[in-house]
Amino acid sequence: MRIIIAPVMKKYRDHYFLKAKQENYPARSVYKLKEIDKRFRIFKKGMRVLDLGAAPGSWSLGAAEKIGPAGLVLGADIQNTDTAFPANVLFRREDVFHRSAEFEALLREKGPFDVVMSDMAPSTTGHRGTDQARSAALCEEALAVALAYLIKGGSFVVKVFMGPDVKNLADALRKHFAVVKSFKPASSRSESMETFYVALGYTGLPLPDPPLESSAPSTV
Ligand SMILES: C[S@@+](CC[C@H](N)C(=O)[O-])C[C@H]1O[C@@H](n2cnc3c(N)ncnc32)[C@H](O)[C@@H]1O
Repeated sequence: MRIIIAPVMKKYRDHYFLKAKQENYPARSVYKLKEIDKRFRIFKKGMRVLDLGAAPGSWSLGAAEKIGPAGLVLGADIQNTDTAFPANVLFRREDVFHRSAEFEALLREKGPFDVVMSDMAPSTTGHRGTDQARSAALCEEALAVALAYLIKGGSFVVKVFMGPDVKNLADALRKHFAVVKSFKPASSRSESMETFYVALGYTGLPLPDPPLESSAPSTV
């Protein structure tokens, strides 16, 4: 008798894929955000949320439910989406590395934000080192946006591909947030190299000044 063992990965994907379909989310990734929120309680009614890498829109929809009609989600992605969002979600097509003046103005108008979250991922090449480096660059840019537009005490959630650059990300987060945790949701496939960092309690402190050597008064 031949025993056929269905690949675990497929079963797993199907479960969250089907659940997302049944619950009208455009992507299964919403369950990762739900797990993050269940663990860290990042959303409250009336909050303002910035969602980087928002297409097709599951995270924005999930966050919009949690913050309610008095809150706002501003989603941005390099790709467009045809997802129909509720009134408390704004979506803009935008490359985080090349933010338009209009988008910066929108960030100033709608911010500061209580939560900045980034589920951004590069198009994968299959070359692990390249994909990790591109993911790290996206995290670095997401962090730069978060530092500029988060309220003091705000939260930052970021997806990263595990690799040598992750330590730099964690170190940078610890400089600016009271609590920094890594978290791999059960709905994230175990074979995926992604994990999430959740940083709570933005200190809001400016970056330390550069060393003063060059501006030291000259002794004549
Ligand atoms: C995993 S998907 C996000 C899924 C989304 N969180 C959801 O729940 O529907 C990763 C997204 O990152 C976006 N992305 C990659 N590079 C980007 C960039 N430079 N600027 C903005 N978005 C980017 C991709 O276009 C892609 O839609």
